[in-house]
Amino acid sequence: MPRPPRKIAGHPVMITGAASGIGRSLAQRLSRLGSPVAIADVDATGLAETASSLSGPVLSRVLDVSDAADQLRFADEVRAWLPAPLAAVFNNAGVTTASTVADAVPEDDSWLFSINFWGVVNGTRAFLPILKEQGSGVIVNTSSVYGLLGMPHQSAYCASKFAVRGFTDALRQELLGTGVGAVTVHPGGIRTNIVRNARIRHDPEGRGRTHEEIAAQFEAITLTTPDKAAEIIQHGVERGKSRILVGPDAYVFDALARIAPTHYFTVMSKLGARLRARQDKVVSPK
Ligand SMILES: NC(=O)c1ccc[n+]([C@@H]2O[C@H](COP(=O)([O-])OP(=O)(O)OC[C@H]3O[C@@H](n4cnc5c(N)ncnc54)[C@H](O)[C@@H]3O)[C@@H](O)[C@H]2O)c1
Repeated sequence: MPRPPRKIAGHPVMITGAASGIGRSLAQRLSRLGSPVAIADVDATGLAETASSLSGPVLSRVLDVSDAADQLRFADEVRAWLPAPLAAVFNNAGVTTASTVADAVPEDDSWLFSINFWGVVNGTRAFLPILKEQGSGVIVNTSSVYGLLGMPHQSAYCASKFAVRGFTDALRQELLGTGVGAVTVHPGGIRTNIVRNARIRHDPEGRGRTHEEIAAQFEAITLTTPDKAAEIIQHGVERGKSRILVGPDAYVFDALARIAPTHYFTVMSKLGARLRARQDKVVSPK
């Protein structure tokens, strides 16, 4: 059952991963709608660009989300800066890798997990006391469609995003009756820098593609811009959703998870083959 609507536009928010992609678009959108924004990212240059693109109040902080102590210090700074109750905490920062399970580099998997999962846990633990004291606000944790279905060459990423989903679902139940909410976001393919910023040692499909080529192919099949993703996320939170699907492909993943929970990849491969056949006809219609 949907929860009561939660207005976030015009109210203070905190966003990690705000130097690029979905996080930057969320900061720009909510700032434009009157929200004071506290933004954080490990990329100082990108974060400064985001901050300078905002016209409203902004607290900007270079921060590695995997550092629990620094997240606590940042939460103290945000608490002191807040001009009004904190409406939303977006634990959005994330990274990816691409590798078979057999070839995975443990150091890369740990790097990914420290950001995608522990970064979300650290941000939740640091900012939750502020929301609980207020008796209002919402923790918005970014999972993925890869937190709905496991996909080849994305084992660590999928595991981290399933973990975010489980963590946030558990948190939501603990928060019942407190006035504080917990929301999971499941984006489909969004045209951002995520694959360019990925750790990819070699083409996991063994086709010899460069990192640049893999990133370009990813961007070519994305269906949603980061600005559109920010709009969907804002509206989803404000409608009181507990789970927000972002983009048409996210709805396909969600449906497959329900109707073909073990055979989804076969179905996807068949759909993909048909789409490729149609594309080929367009190129040479004989
Ligand atoms: N783009 C997609 O298709 C897609 C799909 C599903 C989920 N997501 C998720 O959306 C979120 C945003 O990703 P995006 O697509 O905008 O990618 P992006 O690469 O454009 O932005 C991610 C941001 O996170 C920051 N970041 C990385 N490590 C960090 C750290 N240790 N501490 C602080 N900041 C750090 C990066 O510097 C970057 O600014 C991620 O959690 C990602 O997993 C993206």
